[in-house]
Amino acid sequence: MEFKLDQVKYKRITIVLLLFILSIVITSCDRKVQYSVYSPNHNHEVIFRLSDSGEPSYEINSSGKQIILSSALGFKFMDQNPINTDLEVESIAVDSVDEFWEQPWGEFRKIQDKYNELSLQLKEKGNEGRRINFIFRAFDDGIAFRYHFPEQPGMEDVRITDELTEFTFPSDEEVWWMPVHRENSYYESFYRRTEISATDTINTPATFESVNDKYLAIHEANLTDFASMTLLNTGNNRYKSDLVPWADGIKVYTKAPFNTPWRIVMIGDTPGDLVTSTMMLNLNEPSKIDDTSWIVPSKYIGIWWGMHLDKYTWGQGEKHGATTANTKKYIDFASDNNFDGVLVEGWNLGWDGDWTADGTAFSFTEAYPDFDLDEITKYAASRNVRLIGHHETAGAATHYESQLEDAFGMYEKLGVNAVKTGYVNKYLDKKEWHDSQFGVRHYRKVIETAAKYHIMIDNHEPVKGTGIQRTYPNLMTQEGGRGQEYNAWSPDGGNTPEHTTVMPFTRMLSGPFDFTPGIFDFDYKTASGTRVQTTLAKQLALYVVLFSPQQMAADLPENYEGNPAFNFVRDVPAIWSETVVPDSKIGDYVAIARKEWEGENWYMGVITDENSRKLDIDLNFLGDGKYRAELYTDGEGADYRTDPYPIKFSTENYTNGDKLTIALAPGGGAAIKFIPVTE
Ligand code: NOJ
Repeated sequence: MEFKLDQVKYKRITIVLLLFILSIVITSCDRKVQYSVYSPNHNHEVIFRLSDSGEPSYEINSSGKQIILSSALGFKFMDQNPINTDLEVESIAVDSVDEFWEQPWGEFRKIQDKYNELSLQLKEKGNEGRRINFIFRAFDDGIAFRYHFPEQPGMEDVRITDELTEFTFPSDEEVWWMPVHRENSYYESFYRRTEISATDTINTPATFESVNDKYLAIHEANLTDFASMTLLNTGNNRYKSDLVPWADGIKVYTKAPFNTPWRIVMIGDTPGDLVTSTMMLNLNEPSKIDDTSWIVPSKYIGIWWGMHLDKYTWGQGEKHGATTANTKKYIDFASDNNFDGVLVEGWNLGWDGDWTADGTAFSFTEAYPDFDLDEITKYAASRNVRLIGHHETAGAATHYESQLEDAFGMYEKLGVNAVKTGYVNKYLDKKEWHDSQFGVRHYRKVIETAAKYHIMIDNHEPVKGTGIQRTYPNLMTQEGGRGQEYNAWSPDGGNTPEHTTVMPFTRMLSGPFDFTPGIFDFDYKTASGTRVQTTLAKQLALYVVLFSPQQMAADLPENYEGNPAFNFVRDVPAIWSETVVPDSKIGDYVAIARKEWEGENWYMGVITDENSRKLDIDLNFLGDGKYRAELYTDGEGADYRTDPYPIKFSTENYTNGDKLTIALAPGGGAAIKFIPVTE
């Protein structure tokens, strides 16, 4: 439905447009123009305004209170005037969608895409008469908007130098954040909680606690051929989009027509509402891969932790981990314990010396002489396991691209259907940021090429997730966070017990995380003296708390042998049909329950920070009838500082009317499987 604004502009009237069905209100007074759209449940409202001088802005209300105050919109360009003033609305269109779609894997099997949309087509009155569209979507779990630049003269060669989008908060809110590039180029900092005023430029997702009684997270969806949005604190409780530049300072090279990624504000009454939000996925395009039957979840082990502990090396020498004999041992262990894959790092030429300095020595088709790729892949197949390929690039992206087709083609022939990629270097190609448009283009090229060869990707040192896995479901999982590896060598002592109680509400909002849980031996010795700061039960709980459709059992196989806690690791699924968050407090504790993809069993992971605590968890997520629960909980005396090992195995019966009381040790956790009892 469309109509001309001119028809209403001077009438001082309020037009209610399909108010009951679409909940869209359009008002116009004098020359000021205001439009708003409500979420289907009427909780959230986004208001678009044009000032007297034609400057666009928006604000967001939730439950009748302002949560984002009037905030600017617009862009600046090289060799063109900015587009943020002197605009008039030419036409508007509204839409309302309510449909379900099914994921090939995920934290939910069915997803409801339900929103009201308002799109506005504007034109500059003077200047070059350029056209710009604003599209707002109001979901029950938040507000999203994007810009669309229609095809038009003068926009054939666009160089964006700045995005003017702002997010203005009512006061100096508490935010969970990590800095941009300063400490790390690929999101491997700790999140910290401070007031907005104590931040400078921060990454998204950034999570705000709590703004007029709401939990908010700012992020983006569908980051395609654009620069990542980071948030620059410009003072007065306000962030401005700060796009990550190319080395030459330009933020985005493009041409009209083009869309920007969606800017999203997730809104919840509880922290758990952010965890179960699906708006990021809904804002991505449906799958471009028609036959997704080859895209399957997996649990894997790997010749990996040994390198981080310095038991093995990636490069050649007497400690070389990726030997044919060693890999066969890992394959046997995987096969005996029902794992699908064995990751082997350090199998290919290019690791000798300081491999992080310059990745141009890497070959992705040539193996070291002590690694017989043919024999290994055949042996793996005979044991019903697959090799997981590994492509570490050390950031040499263009060098990698020159071998992509050959490398994926070779793997496909050998029956390898998953590859872990990596980009350990401050920059890509020695000068571009991982989260720049250059990086976004590179990572997409890898995913698309991999899809051509039926290969799933686990991307380390990535650009942040923005829901692209909906469109390319072969993008299974990513790093982009401080993972388990920090517990091997980080000079700061490793991941704090708090870290994993923050991630579900921050890093995990951007999608699956290859954290690699499952360390069972806490007594390893490394030069840094670092160690895992959890109990054993918490390592189990992380399999449920931190979603990844490719989930690793990270420890050395010998550390699992004979340990009954390993039954949970063997048992726990990697994908889920439903997810709920029965209880949580960001940075203190979280309980996440998930239902298996096909069957009726539920699993729950509960974790705490450095403090012991007792939680009474409502089991109302369970179906009707009785469930037998198998519990793996912190045992007598368990404490991440002194004795992480004690673990208690017990079984109890529960129904959905019960509460489950869990005692968590300092740095502790609990992992529970609920099985319906059929009598
Ligand atoms: C960093 C990755 O996160 C880690 O998992 C991998 O072992 C090394 N790079 C080597 O590729």
